[in-house]
Amino acid sequence: MPEEYRKEQFPPKGVSNRNKGLEWIRKNARSGVIYFADDDNTYDLELFEEIRHTKRVSMFPVGLMPHLGVCTPVVEKGKLINFYCGWIGDRKFPIDMAGFAVSVEFLLTRPRAWVPFLAGYEETGFLVSLQPFEIPDIELLASNCTKILVWHTQTKENDEPAPVDLDTYGHTNLAKLGEIMM
Ligand SMILES: *[C@@H]1O[C@H](CO)[C@@H](O)[C@H](O)[C@H]1NC(C)=O
Repeated sequence: MPEEYRKEQFPPKGVSNRNKGLEWIRKNARSGVIYFADDDNTYDLELFEEIRHTKRVSMFPVGLMPHLGVCTPVVEKGKLINFYCGWIGDRKFPIDMAGFAVSVEFLLTRPRAWVPFLAGYEETGFLVSLQPFEIPDIELLASNCTKILVWHTQTKENDEPAPVDLDTYGHTNLAKLGEIMM
């Protein structure tokens, strides 16, 4: 982390290393899929089968997230209609770092795409920097986001997640995810 960010109250973590990875990929790769894995997440190997086919950017649920228990696109009839994540804020793409994958071929057409040094906005900032790239361009994986194939598994205690509000989300993928999280 560059010195200038170290004194911030919430320093943006894991930015330099991810950008270094992107830099390496830009220099050395011509095909494949980028996924920002982390040592405190747990993966179902099926995830890697799914992200293989990413054309631009694919998204999928991340389990064991604080507050709501999951961070995911909200999907109704195969369409992304919203995002469901503990903290939405003013993020255009409120999704976790573990909840999306990007095709290398697509990244190479976006030379200005980088992860910003902005705590809380690393994911959305990176995805916005892929523009032109909009919400309808997102490819939904994990059976229309009804399966959890990656979990945050930090060894710390979280409060019980809030139950899914079925009045609001009963017609979406969250009904299924709510059952899984019981
Ligand atoms: C996602 O939902 C759409 C619309 O209901 C459906 O046509 C499609 O087969 C579903 N895809 C998967 C992978 O389940």
